[in-house]
Amino acid sequence: MTAQSSSKEAIGERLAAARRRTYELIEPLDDEQLNRVFSPILSPLAWDLGHIANFEELWLVQTVGGREPLHGELGRFYDAIENPRTSRNELPILRDAELRAYLAEVRERALEVLEEVDISPDASDPLLREGFVYEMLIAHEHQHNETMLQLLQMVDGYGVPEALKSVGCLSPGQLPVQLDRQFEYPPVREAPHALFVPGGEHEIGASARGFAYDNERPRHTVELAAFEVDAFPVTNGEYARFVEDTDAEPPLYWEREGDGWVHTAMGRREPIAPELPVIHVSWHEADAFARWAGKRLPSEQEWEAAARSVAADGGDPHGLPGAGQVWEWTASDFVAYPGFEAFPYEEYSQVFFGDEYKVLRGGSWATHREDLRPSFRNWDLPERRQIFSGLRCARDAR
Ligand SMILES: [Fe+2]
Repeated sequence: MTAQSSSKEAIGERLAAARRRTYELIEPLDDEQLNRVFSPILSPLAWDLGHIANFEELWLVQTVGGREPLHGELGRFYDAIENPRTSRNELPILRDAELRAYLAEVRERALEVLEEVDISPDASDPLLREGFVYEMLIAHEHQHNETMLQLLQMVDGYGVPEALKSVGCLSPGQLPVQLDRQFEYPPVREAPHALFVPGGEHEIGASARGFAYDNERPRHTVELAAFEVDAFPVTNGEYARFVEDTDAEPPLYWEREGDGWVHTAMGRREPIAPELPVIHVSWHEADAFARWAGKRLPSEQEWEAAARSVAADGGDPHGLPGAGQVWEWTASDFVAYPGFEAFPYEEYSQVFFGDEYKVLRGGSWATHREDLRPSFRNWDLPERRQIFSGLRCARDAR
């Protein structure tokens, strides 16, 4: 077997694994639940599913394979920029059996094209070189799984399927039993120390090799003053004290019960676990918490420099202790790195650059473990809380 055919086989397997995970997520649901609008800021799941397949058709079948679309103009209803989330259920999108057939048909064609293309390191098309476009599609499906999980928090009685737990998909209540070693750090009360990061030059961003999104490049050097970053994200227990002290809004899915709080996601009522990271808070709330605690949010450069310094000291390669449980809001606006070049399309990152969106770092319990890397930049509007967002505090070094 040639190197290229074995890497094609590996790509085929990873595409299949991503699709299995998508189907496992929706397995407990019926068609009515797939089509239902649960929130004006989240798409019905049927739209996500059709969009996953349509994005695959657009890139792996039409762009790379030069084939005609299966359903004519259908693609425009799955364009995330053209169709705001509030309007997606009114679109003539595919539903039910037709939707499932489309997912399968696109996949079959994508695998046919994969057989034909050159994905070697010296392929002339940068989209195909080292399988970039396939990595992009796998990551895209993983990321839509996370968006789907945001909506699934609103589905009464939903339980995260067992099979997902081995690939980094746990419900918040199950975090302490995570098998992955990055979750074995002690709760904050037993590890109150902060990590010190020396001032000076720090390398930020993804290197030129390997898969990363355009917004993570190019790698560049930043000058940072010495700072400290907490060894753990802010916990539910700490956040409850902040809410009680300041009358701040509790996080999404918290409700008062007696003297304490219960977590109401998926229609359950479970006491919040004080030692776990707080989740579902907005940027404004995260910022207010940090100031209340006498600290501040780290910049995204500080976050990444801290993560890289932990990894360089022989720590977890993903970086900061506790990272990968909740997305961590940073103080930074989502802007282009110096020398940024849009690739492979402007709508991935470039149209979002500016001061409207704030950067989140780290990854959440719902993020596929394959997608965790210190350079990964997530972004959202500062008022959003349906995402799996928490925070970690920092301060200038004393
Ligand atoms: Fe998408």
